[in-house]
Amino acid sequence: MCGIVGYTGKRKAAGVLLHGLSMLEYRGYDSAGLAVLGEDGQIRMEKATGKLYHLDKKTEHGERLPGRSGIGHTRWATHGEPNEKNAHPHVSGEWKQGAGNFTDSDVIGVHNGIIENQTELREKLLRHGYTFYSDTDTEVAVKLVDYYLKKYQIGPIDAINRMMVRVRGSYALVLMFRDRPGEIYAARKDSPMIIGVADGETFLASDVPAILDYTRTVYYIDNYQAARILPGEVHFFDLNGDEISLSPVTISWEPKAAEKNGYEHFMMKEICEQPDALRNTLTHYLKDGELDFSQAGLDSGLLGGIRSVCIAACGSAWHAGVAARYAIEELAELPVRVELASEFRYRKLLLSPKDLLIVISQSGETADTLEALRIAKRKGIPTLAIVNVQGSGIAREADHVLYTLAGPEIAVATTKAFSCQLLLMYALAVQLAYVRNKIEKERYLYYVHELRHLPDKAADCISAKEKVQRLAAKLAGANDVFFIGRGADYAVSLEGSLKLKEISYIHSEAYAAGELKHGTISLIEKGTPVIGILTQSSVSEKTLSNMFECKARGASLLAVVSGEALSDGGAALKEEDDASEWRWIRVPEADELFAGLLAVIPLQLLGYYTSVSRGLDVDKPRNLAKSVTVE
Ligand code: AGP
Repeated sequence: MCGIVGYTGKRKAAGVLLHGLSMLEYRGYDSAGLAVLGEDGQIRMEKATGKLYHLDKKTEHGERLPGRSGIGHTRWATHGEPNEKNAHPHVSGEWKQGAGNFTDSDVIGVHNGIIENQTELREKLLRHGYTFYSDTDTEVAVKLVDYYLKKYQIGPIDAINRMMVRVRGSYALVLMFRDRPGEIYAARKDSPMIIGVADGETFLASDVPAILDYTRTVYYIDNYQAARILPGEVHFFDLNGDEISLSPVTISWEPKAAEKNGYEHFMMKEICEQPDALRNTLTHYLKDGELDFSQAGLDSGLLGGIRSVCIAACGSAWHAGVAARYAIEELAELPVRVELASEFRYRKLLLSPKDLLIVISQSGETADTLEALRIAKRKGIPTLAIVNVQGSGIAREADHVLYTLAGPEIAVATTKAFSCQLLLMYALAVQLAYVRNKIEKERYLYYVHELRHLPDKAADCISAKEKVQRLAAKLAGANDVFFIGRGADYAVSLEGSLKLKEISYIHSEAYAAGELKHGTISLIEKGTPVIGILTQSSVSEKTLSNMFECKARGASLLAVVSGEALSDGGAALKEEDDASEWRWIRVPEADELFAGLLAVIPLQLLGYYTSVSRGLDVDKPRNLAKSVTVE
């Protein structure tokens, strides 16, 4: 999704803005732009398609844009193709490629989100004499503010409030007004935005990494709020134009956390950070050797009274929900539905206040997941959010929040946040079982013990990465890869398949192993890689049989095996297969209810090494964004 930065203060704005945008590259983009408003009232702007270094080069590291207040943007195209004309910032007047002053523009802005009624607004503005140079909804929003300024002869905050009342959709909108050098204005609805304050300077961004090098004191502006930003200070306003007071939050992240620290890619760094991330997350919820979720308001009363659980999420977070379902049903004997948030929001909501909606999200800003949460809240259904980013939209709106303490996750493909989500959901399953008297104290302590050993076992899985690297070389040339499993192993296959697809661009499918013979097995041909997940002793032999059925039709087999999931320890797999290593990756034994967290790690590594072997941009795969803040 788009990245937004803003700065006003004592430094050269362009350099601060370029640095901020570089820290937001992971969000995914296809063009970028900067605008600086000089004390002389001159608007100077540059835009460039492609990677950020094109803009950096074009602005000569920002030197060509003198001034101490400015805004910047990396665009992930929603309306209009990725070209300079559509790149942000956008102005209220005309834009001529290469022009440097925009004397006919009084308002200039950048935006993250979608203006859903942009067509009707564009027509309204055309009727009032405006013309448009781009295909973007952002240009409409900027010109709408300009329209209100002039029609009602009002100030920026009042004009912004009128825009917020008139517009439908989502926006993090940041504006400058030619007659107000040194000032920046902002308005938010549903798209993330934070405002950081330091001595004599103020920063604005879509996400924390862009400003972490300058300040840790930030404000989270809320929906339908506007802000007037000056050097070292910020004033907030509600829709009535009345000034309101927001409390600052101190960001606990270390700046280093948003850097590679010697790893070639963020993704490998984050894979290797999993043992610590898991340990930090679990420890945070342990008290005197037992699980304690009371800080989130999840006391025995609430957990004990739940009639059913519904999980709503997207992508890998949804996979975490699918995997957790097996543990919750098995331990707590609670019915669990796992819904794709993008589907959930359009279905009849058959939940009651006796149910619990759990939303899972790394970013805490995924639009569909946020909407699922809001739908449940409107119906009075208790909501719990499992979120990684502190203070994110979902975290702020859920009734209860359990944070994963994975730290900033920069790679688009999630790894450590996913495994921490899984760990927290496993822990919740254990706690639900205990407070509902489904397990005795001794069994409860056994499960807590098993959870506490997962971080070390995860480290063992990571230590086998060289073997996975060798196996990945066999995948690099594949066209279709199948990941298969049964039960909780099927959930792991979902995540393994997505990891491979999203960063290596190789088509793959996750399939319930028992379902293959009902059609899809027709796709198996000589050399098709079939990767079986074998951690559940009750079904692993059956999955192995399905693997052999594929091998009989030419498939190459790879299995992720845990503990004694195979009664013969894999001998059959060994005999069947040729001398190649293309046999299995063994992960440490763990309680089968939690084995999925370990089995997914070799699959993360498999996706990573396959992408690297294909020379692809592992951390910033094409077409993808780290946080999908639009529907
Ligand atoms: C994960 O590798 C993917 N990049 C993606 O599916 C992601 O899990 C999904 O967009 C949900 O994001 P969230 O956890 O921030 O809500």
